[in-house]
Amino acid sequence: MGFYENRILPKLIDVACATPPILKQREKVVPQAEGRILEVGMGSAINIPFYDASKVEMVWGLEPSEGMRRKAVPRIADAPFPVEWLGLPGEEIPLDDDSADTVLLTFTLCTIPDFAKALGQMRRVLKPGGRLLFAEHGAAPDESVRRWQERLNPIWKRLAGGCHINREIPQAIEAAGFKVESLDTMYLPGTPKVAAFQYWGFATQR
Ligand SMILES: C[S@@+](CC[C@H](N)C(=O)[O-])C[C@H]1O[C@@H](n2cnc3c(N)ncnc32)[C@H](O)[C@@H]1O
Repeated sequence: MGFYENRILPKLIDVACATPPILKQREKVVPQAEGRILEVGMGSAINIPFYDASKVEMVWGLEPSEGMRRKAVPRIADAPFPVEWLGLPGEEIPLDDDSADTVLLTFTLCTIPDFAKALGQMRRVLKPGGRLLFAEHGAAPDESVRRWQERLNPIWKRLAGGCHINREIPQAIEAAGFKVESLDTMYLPGTPKVAAFQYWGFATQR
């Protein structure tokens, strides 16, 4: 991994993922997490203060990037619950079947190369009756925005550490064997429309 991916990119992602409108999206979803939680692509651990600590038994923070894990250290040190790092990609979740009460995904599905495989792994480790909570950005419903997303995605992906701006989030979740039980959408205010369309809610196993 080069200097850009290991040193510069983690700083850029940390700033881009903590703008006021993005923090508001976290507030809508993260406090719903409960029990033994798997956070996939934990990044620099921005979600830690958004958890409702009274509901959290522990968090497995799965994050393949060493640079992101390094940036997370101070936030993890302040966590009022145990956090265990899993330094592997979402396509290879090293947990037993039915081991998590909640799987949390925030702004990660856009980046996972084989997101279908990773979602299959999330389904495997989620307990029956558990919830997959998500707050993600993706494909916009408006044709003109959508066309720009398709045009810009190749260059965006290269600059933003593999992030895709045009993924069909609910469809991907459903295709992995989940049922999306709650779904809200909107364009994030103060953000260029190509990267602003948000999906958030929860899914359970079908
Ligand atoms: C845009 S960041 C979001 C980080 C964090 N989820 C948040 O909400 O701030 C995307 C994260 O996905 C991670 N990632 C990349 N490939 C991944 C994979 N195959 N499995 C899991 N996470 C991955 C990146 O290292 C990065 O930390």
